[in-house]
Amino acid sequence: MPLVAPSLLSANFLQLQKDCDMLNSSEADWYHLDVMDGRFVPNISFGPMLINFFRKATTKTCDVHLMIEEPERYAQAFQEAGADIITIHAEACTHLHRNIQQIRSLGVKAGVALNPHTPVHVLSEIIRDIDLVCLMSVNPGFGGQQFIPHTLVKIRELKELINSSGSAALIEIDGGVTLENAPSIVSAGADVLVAGNTVFKATDPVATIAQLKKVVAR
Ligand code: DX5
Ligand code: ZN
Repeated sequence: MPLVAPSLLSANFLQLQKDCDMLNSSEADWYHLDVMDGRFVPNISFGPMLINFFRKATTKTCDVHLMIEEPERYAQAFQEAGADIITIHAEACTHLHRNIQQIRSLGVKAGVALNPHTPVHVLSEIIRDIDLVCLMSVNPGFGGQQFIPHTLVKIRELKELINSSGSAALIEIDGGVTLENAPSIVSAGADVLVAGNTVFKATDPVATIAQLKKVVAR
């Protein structure tokens, strides 16, 4: 049974309380919170202030996906805002190991995200030091894009790396996850499904989340 992490990027920002109430009443496991700086990605979303509102609106895990340059400048602010998991992009970090140490020293879980073009093996030396790997299955920056099928190959490679190294890292898939492709994503080895449009554009988001929770490996 996968963990389901709806991405609030696709929520209606004029009625966030309603969307939080919906998520809290659903089987969603995590809030996936997408932070964009307009530099690492060509879009700007929100920062620690809004994350602190989400923190107060839910007891669910706040999974903060930082699509920002120099994440070391903001890690503490996101921890103080209430993040449970802070995920940074390998492509944004010259000293990735140091960044992971910093996040863990703040007492939160550390994740690393990989863009579609970044091979899984860049994580081979640090896979035991991280709690989560977020494989981007779209180019980051926007919700509602199409799933890149090659991600399935990367999931299998990552699963092998995790198993062979004795790492406990979870595999999270972010971008273009639908009810149709979720079974093959879970079959390939994914543990966490991020879903933005699939949840928030559904006529019945709570039922859609329940359907994603029921996805089994084929
Ligand atoms: C993309 C974000 C994703 C996005 C997912 O840059 O990291 O979390 O919101 O949205 P969907 O599920 O609509 O592709
Ligand atoms: Zn994301």
